[in-house]
Amino acid sequence: MGVIANGTADRTSRRSVDRTNLHRVWRTVLIGLALGVAAACYFVPALLVVIGALVLLLLCARLVYRGRDRYIPNLYARDIRMYDDDYRAFITDSLADLRQRKIPGHTLLWEASQLAPPSPENARELQLDLGVWLGWSTRLTADACGRTVHGFDTFSGLVEDWAVDDQMVVKKGTFSLTEPLAQRLMAETGVTMDDDGVPDPLGRDVQFIKGMTYDTLAPFLAARPDAPIRLFHMDLDTYESCLHALETCKDRFVEGSILVFDEYLVTNAEMQAFYEFQQKYGLEWRYRAWGLEIWEMNVEMVTSRWKRLAYYFLAVGIFWMLGGGNFAWAFHTKRFWRFWLGAPFGDIVFMLGAAGQRKSVSLEITGLGSLARDNDNR
Ligand SMILES: C[S@@+](CC[C@H](N)C(=O)[O-])C[C@H]1O[C@@H](n2cnc3c(N)ncnc32)[C@H](O)[C@@H]1O
Repeated sequence: MGVIANGTADRTSRRSVDRTNLHRVWRTVLIGLALGVAAACYFVPALLVVIGALVLLLLCARLVYRGRDRYIPNLYARDIRMYDDDYRAFITDSLADLRQRKIPGHTLLWEASQLAPPSPENARELQLDLGVWLGWSTRLTADACGRTVHGFDTFSGLVEDWAVDDQMVVKKGTFSLTEPLAQRLMAETGVTMDDDGVPDPLGRDVQFIKGMTYDTLAPFLAARPDAPIRLFHMDLDTYESCLHALETCKDRFVEGSILVFDEYLVTNAEMQAFYEFQQKYGLEWRYRAWGLEIWEMNVEMVTSRWKRLAYYFLAVGIFWMLGGGNFAWAFHTKRFWRFWLGAPFGDIVFMLGAAGQRKSVSLEITGLGSLARDNDNR
C-alpha cells in the first residue's frame, strides 16, 4: 500500500464548484464565427448561395444515409458493427437512454452535490476517486459533497497503454506528475506535493493513496470491512484498470451506489468494462446523467484570471486541432462525415457546444443481481 496524505477541512461544508466557463468561451467563439460568416455573406452575397447549397446537400445526404445507429456521438468513436450483437445493442440502448439525461455541468460534481450531507448514518460510506492526476477531481468532489473522498493514483501516469477506440493510443506513463503540463498546472493551481510525491489536500477532506490500484485498492477496502461504496468515480481510463477496479469493489456496491465514468463514450474501455461487469453479475442499474468530463476543472482552478482565460482558448484549440476531437483536421475523413451524416441534430449541437468534451456518464445501482447472493454467502 502506498503513502496516504489527508486534510482536515470542516466535514459539513459543501461548496458549489461546478463551473463551465470554458464552454462559455467556446460558445462565444462559435457565435463569433457565425457572425463573421453572416457578415461575409452580407458583403459577398454569392457566399450565401454556396453555404446554402452545402447545407442543402448535407440535409439531403442525411436523408439517404442509413448508418445512423452505427456511430455514437464522438468523432473518434468506432463503427459499432465491429462488436457482437449484445454489446452493440447495449451501446445503442445506452445512447437512446442517455440522450434523455443530458446535464449542462460536470457529471461527477453534479452527482457529488446530490449526495446526502454527512451524518452519523452515512459516516462509513466510501467516496472513491480512481485516477486523480493533480488531485482536483478529488478535492472538488469533497467540496461538492462535504464528505471524505479517497483518491487513488500512481502519480506516475497510466499503467498500461490506452487505445482510444480508433483514434489514438495514449501511452503508458502519460499523466505522470513529472510531465511539463502537469508541473505547469500544479504551479498555476497552487498544488504542492509532500516528500513522498503525493499532492497536498489543500485544506480539503481528502486522502490520497499512492500506487497502482492493482496493489492499493484491495488492501484499502480490507482495512474498512463492510464499508459500502456510495460514490465510485472511474477516471483510470483503460479497460484493464477499470474492470479490475469494478471487480475489486464488487462486494461493496449497494443499491443506491453511484458510479460515474469519466470516459464512458470510449466504447473499448470504460463502457466495455462496465458492460461486461454488469452482465457477469446480472446487475440492475439505471443511467442518471450525461455531462462534461471533470478534467477541465483543472483549468478552472488556475488562480490567475488572465492565465485562466488563456488556458480556455488553449484547451479549445488543442481539442479542436490535436486532441480527442480533432475536428479541424479531420473534416475530410470518413469519420467526420459519419458524424455530420449520422448523429442526431441534438447530439451534434450538444457535442459542438462543448468542444466535444462530453463523455462522462453516471448511473445508479438499483439491484445487486448475483452479487447479493455472493455477498450473503461471504
Ligand atoms: C485522466 S487522469 C485523471 C484525471 C483526474 N481525474 C482529473 O480530473 O484531473 C488518469 C489518471 O489515472 C492514473 N492511473 C491510471 N491507471 C491507474 C492505475 N491502475 N492505478 C493508479 N493510477 C492509475 C494515471 O496516473 C492518471 O493520473
